[in-house]
Amino acid sequence: MLEIKNLSAGYGKVQVLHGVSIEVPKGRVVTLIGSNGAGKTTTMRAVSGMIAPTAGEIILNGKRIDGMESYDIARRGLAHSPEGRRVFATMTVTDNLHLGAFPRYTGSRPKGDVAADLERAFALFPRLKERREQLAGTLSGGEQQMLAMARATMLNPDVMLLDEPSMGLAPILVAEVFRIIERLKEQGVTMLLVEQFAAAALGVADYGYVLENGRISLHGPAEKLRNDPAVKAAYLGGGH
Ligand SMILES: Nc1ncnc2c1ncn2[C@@H]1O[C@H](COP(=O)(O)OP(=O)(O)O)[C@@H](O)[C@H]1O
Ligand SMILES: [Mg+2]
Repeated sequence: MLEIKNLSAGYGKVQVLHGVSIEVPKGRVVTLIGSNGAGKTTTMRAVSGMIAPTAGEIILNGKRIDGMESYDIARRGLAHSPEGRRVFATMTVTDNLHLGAFPRYTGSRPKGDVAADLERAFALFPRLKERREQLAGTLSGGEQQMLAMARATMLNPDVMLLDEPSMGLAPILVAEVFRIIERLKEQGVTMLLVEQFAAAALGVADYGYVLENGRISLHGPAEKLRNDPAVKAAYLGGGH
């Protein structure tokens, strides 16, 4: 479904990713683990077209998308819930969600029933339903994070990139975010997940990759990584 092959990318003259390869099969949840600054967010930005890869191939549903504009990539069915609560502050919750569905109107994918999907999103995120007419900028940080996630679901994506959906949230909301990820998984949504809570991410994921200084150092079934002594020592201790 999503294949990343030998991806290199960076910012200006600074190369961050050095030949990263990741496969996200249909219906699976894959997690990308790594320390701060390893290049997880850069990987997601390159996949969704926010930055242009300098080498490698990104293939979505059998078609190359590397080098395409973000909007074209979204139209082809890839949704990105970016790090750090990127919502449209002066628009309502409902309008933010409609914007998430907008690329469905112009691509070749079936448009589907946007109104029904809005109700489905509200069922998944009841907090947002209660606040549907509120301006997004007036939501709490945690609610904005959920809105970014919910907006990504409105694309009805073939693949969803989730970058640190629980960042900065109170523990009760972290648990809710993971419950929502579980529900999305049950619904068959294909996901590439980056999470500070690596143990919890490996709990929901089928497969995992470890990124170190812009290179994949290890990958394997999530269960195996969870029990790997080196992974445990580096990523599953206290702060992660
Ligand atoms: N917009 C940017 N401009 C320049 N360098 C950046 C930018 N964003 C991230 N970096 C650098 O790229 C590297 C990888 O960052 P990032 O992908 O955000 O890591 P992670 O998400 O794994 O914490 C870091 O060294 C970071 O400083
Ligand atoms: Mg990051």
